Amino acid sequence: MDAPGLVEVNFLRDDLVVRAPAGTPLQEIADHAGADLTFGCRTGSCGTCRVRVVRGFEHASPPGPEERDFLATLDAPPDHRLACQMCVNGDLEIEYLGL
Ligand code: FES
Repeated sequence: MDAPGLVEVNFLRDDLVVRAPAGTPLQEIADHAGADLTFGCRTGSCGTCRVRVVRGFEHASPPGPEERDFLATLDAPPDHRLACQMCVNGDLEIEYLGL
């Protein structure tokens, strides 16, 4: 990506590419863009916002202990994240999985 400080998020389900400042929460980017990504609790406890990071996993903020614990209860693979719990620090491709 060319513009300094901006990152690109590709919401694969929508074929939608959105630019945002690095460090922006993914839920904020999704809400602003009108992406097909549903949120429930927004606190990391319901799983509604579960996504798979298809590309750029290293650009997602690391999961906190609560997110890690919750995803472990779902036996989720390592590329699954909760969109309400992560910030975007570089270009990402996201596939929304939902519940
Ligand atoms: S909205 Fe509930 S876990 Fe993200």
